[in-house]
Amino acid sequence: MEPSRISFDFSHMLAAATGGHGIREEVFDRAAARIPALHQAMEAGREAMAWRALPYVQQDIVAACRAAAARINAEFDNFVVFGIGGSALGSKALFSACCHSHYNALPRERRGGVRFYVEDNVDPDRMNALLDVIDVKRTAFHIITKSGNTVETMSQFIIILDRLRKELGENLRNNLFITTDRKSGIMKGIADAEGWDTFTVPDGVGGRFSVLCPVGLLSAAVLNLDLDALLAGAAEMDAACSRPALAENPAYQYALLYTEAMRMGANISVMLPYADALAPFSEWYCQLWAESLGKRNDRAGHSVHCGQTPVRALGVTDQHSQIQLYNEGPFDKVISFIGVEHFHSELVIPAAPIDVRDVSYLCGHSLNELIAAEMSATVHAVTKNGKMNNTIMVESLNEASLGKLFFFFEMATAAAGELLDINAFDQPGVEEGKIATFALMGRPGYAEKAAELRAGSAADARLMLSV
Ligand code: PA5
Repeated sequence: MEPSRISFDFSHMLAAATGGHGIREEVFDRAAARIPALHQAMEAGREAMAWRALPYVQQDIVAACRAAAARINAEFDNFVVFGIGGSALGSKALFSACCHSHYNALPRERRGGVRFYVEDNVDPDRMNALLDVIDVKRTAFHIITKSGNTVETMSQFIIILDRLRKELGENLRNNLFITTDRKSGIMKGIADAEGWDTFTVPDGVGGRFSVLCPVGLLSAAVLNLDLDALLAGAAEMDAACSRPALAENPAYQYALLYTEAMRMGANISVMLPYADALAPFSEWYCQLWAESLGKRNDRAGHSVHCGQTPVRALGVTDQHSQIQLYNEGPFDKVISFIGVEHFHSELVIPAAPIDVRDVSYLCGHSLNELIAAEMSATVHAVTKNGKMNNTIMVESLNEASLGKLFFFFEMATAAAGELLDINAFDQPGVEEGKIATFALMGRPGYAEKAAELRAGSAADARLMLSV
């Protein structure tokens, strides 16, 4: 396996480091007393959390993904993922973290495979723009929808079906790869009726916990990534995050400290990687943290309205945008820095060919040194300003370290859900909007909802204007 060590430093979450606005020692000790019960619940729930088995049970799936990817790379020029939320964000994160940042612009020999796109919106301009740059005949489409009913993905699917039928007639099946539920949902029904094979999102694996099944694995295989290393990294992190002792378990530490921070009013979780390649990973984290923990009721049905608003930021870019707020604004957030020890390349700032005066001290240093120094400086500043923060250092970005990161945050999220006594695996709050969309788009059976929407809610004309 390539170097993939991940180091966690949560010490700046404590009041001892942040000078009073962090978690006090006695609060931490009291919270730590909950760890044996947390561990028991996490172990008892292992089977129900089917995503925890994914690193171990997919030899056949890995082989099938590799075979499909070999055909895709042999027969096509492009690979497009259609999906949304958990059906798309893992592929985006993997692609960005493990591949060249201008991958699609590289010549094919350097890419070693097809161009790669993840299309996770129904913005008409974006869809038309995609259709402007791909030849659908030369493109493999991976339609991913666990429920098989998602309007966004199904709309994309129908648009592409129509294009493929016009271009290829009856032979369109060759270009389609589908991942959906084993037996339920409209997508599965269509695939069965047409006699199409599908990849499966295993039972008990929800969208945002699905990156390590065919949802993300087929993308990884198409990108010629090392699927064994990805899953081995996840397995290694599983071992660490299954340890009973708080001092040895990073997921329990994260979950405990973040849920305590939430109790103290830190309603915001900022994910701040210092690597462009990890910007989409922050998107993946934000969905996981928001959709899993943002809940109205606890498991007993009491109204709790809990959750923590995740915010994506990027170092160093956002030092010139958000850091002023983080340093001097309210004590309502926790900041998670992610640093990369070894980037894939180095770039030294050369001796300047003209007199650059007071910036000549930069010459001879590398951008690698600069980005590391800026992260250290920001950690120092936010800590000095009393803001709870923590640092996750990744030795190098590759399949194994991504496997570890995905699994770490999944375990931390599940553990946080347990500590908050909520169901971290459902998303009832997304339903109302989905149903309203069905009604607005004329789906049969939603007439009553359509009438409710037409009636609208009270609108105050004094507060409505256009310019
Ligand atoms: O985490 C989740 O469950 C969601 O974000 C889903 O992934 C998202 O709504 C897409 O659903 P589906 O895969 O059923 O199309």
